[in-house]
Amino acid sequence: MTDADPEPGVGVVVVAAGSGSRLGAGVPKAFVAIGGERIVDRAVRGALAVRAVSQVVVVVPAAYVQGEAGDLAAVHPEPGPVARVTVVAGGAERTDSVRAGLAALDAACAIVLVHDAARCLTPAGVYDRVIAAVRAGDEAVVPGLPVVDTMKVVDADGLVLLTPERARVRAIQTPQGFTRAALDRAHASGQLATDDAALAEACGIPVRVVLGDPLALKVTTPEDLAYAERLLEGAR
Ligand code: C5P
Repeated sequence: MTDADPEPGVGVVVVAAGSGSRLGAGVPKAFVAIGGERIVDRAVRGALAVRAVSQVVVVVPAAYVQGEAGDLAAVHPEPGPVARVTVVAGGAERTDSVRAGLAALDAACAIVLVHDAARCLTPAGVYDRVIAAVRAGDEAVVPGLPVVDTMKVVDADGLVLLTPERARVRAIQTPQGFTRAALDRAHASGQLATDDAALAEACGIPVRVVLGDPLALKVTTPEDLAYAERLLEGAR
């Protein structure tokens, strides 16, 4: 790309179609409020606040497309440019929901970020680092943090198979960024995975890790929800 070329459009797929059974709130996790604002609204607002983003596709449970999620398009960014918000229904597994989101993304989005709505406190700096690395030439980029605990890989019986060198282990977060071509290739396999980078790895696409942020934690359990509330109170 030369200086004269426009930057490629960035689309964000926000996956918010999980049931949130581990949270046990009685409504899908993304529709639970943190600090008075629904997780999904916070996540969409976070994506819209990133200057480079031109479209956000929000993937929600089918029952929420017309009803509860219908007002998502009215969420306004502050202060970035107004990106288009599209709401679609998700699938049974996270990977199915990502694929549904990808199908609704404009062809003009040459860079795609996939983000868990559950990481609704993710600061804009994480998006910026991921986008910058994809623009600099990486096909797949994920944010990650060093771990403090020693990690073990175990077998089905709980017996340790191996201990990776801790200094080389990263806890991986989202948004995960890809060239559109790489993400389409990664998903063409039809496989399921807990993140999109794993699909890219499986088809030989190099995945770079950039620095994540503790605020990009995934709200999964009632304890996470309470912790996120406290973080917000601390920030006020
Ligand atoms: O359940 P898990 O921790 O993998 O969820 C990560 C993200 O993926 C959450 O934001 C959740 O809403 C989303 N998800 C989804 N569709 C599913 C399962 C999870 O959009 N079927």
